[in-house]
Amino acid sequence: MGYELLTLERDDHDIATITLANGKVNALSGELVAEIHEAAKELASAPPAAVIVTGGERIFAAGADISQFGGPEEAAVIGPQIHAAFDDLADLPCLVIAAVSGYALGGGCELALACDYRIASEKAVFGQPEILLGIIPGGGGTQRLPRVVGASKAKEISITGRQVAADEALRIGLADEVVEHEQLHARAMQLAQTIAAGPRVAQAICKRVIDGGLQLSLADGLRLEQEAFVEVFKTEDSQIGVKSFLENGPGKASFVGH
Ligand code: COA
Repeated sequence: MGYELLTLERDDHDIATITLANGKVNALSGELVAEIHEAAKELASAPPAAVIVTGGERIFAAGADISQFGGPEEAAVIGPQIHAAFDDLADLPCLVIAAVSGYALGGGCELALACDYRIASEKAVFGQPEILLGIIPGGGGTQRLPRVVGASKAKEISITGRQVAADEALRIGLADEVVEHEQLHARAMQLAQTIAAGPRVAQAICKRVIDGGLQLSLADGLRLEQEAFVEVFKTEDSQIGVKSFLENGPGKASFVGH
């Protein structure tokens, strides 16, 4: 499929970058959400080493396209479309990094929350302003935001609809890192490249078990970990990594990715 509202690039390190490019404010119209979903499916069919999701310099994404809102019937279509697209992105078997510059509001914030890790420029502004429209977040915000910042802070942010600047986002864990505006893409790429040199299957298993365990009791999560701990020792990279440590010390292994 050709993309018109985003670009999907894949570099020599096998790092994929999705850049939203839907006009001035990167409104998450039905069409853009469909393209994000298509990009997630394309990446799932041949997983890269890491994914970077980014938007515009001044606006990462201004949320769902408000001009496409109607009544309950439209909401019954829009919500599941966004959930399906963001879930497929979140489920990719590699680290998905949001590089957030400027406003990440509503669906923009929810898109960043669907990513595994958020790097924000010092000019980033997050928020779930849906309440100011008399509605609630519908792209995962009521569920992913409390899992990241805790229920009380998520309620305060979503029920006031206020904006959260980068320094506060860092303090409450909504942003994992804040970097100088000019350094945003370099830092996201640096992290992605570090990951690209790692044992991919083990990385995918690690992500799967962390995400899977968050849905479970601690006891069931620990069982999940134990099964995966056995599974990971079946990879060639586990043999390479252990042998390399014993012979050369930590961090020197050359992994093959399986
Ligand atoms: N959906 C549709 N159109 C949007 C939009 C959205 N989510 N966000 C902004 N726009 C439109 C504005 O209506 C405006 O249209 P116009 O040029 O035809 O008048 C244009 O984009 C520029 O917006 P404007 O508010 O003038 O730009 P700004 O730079 O002053 O502010 C934002 C940018 C993103 C801070 C501000 O537009 C905003 O708060 N947007 C809404 C965010 C929101 O509520 N998202 C949740 C949606 S459920």
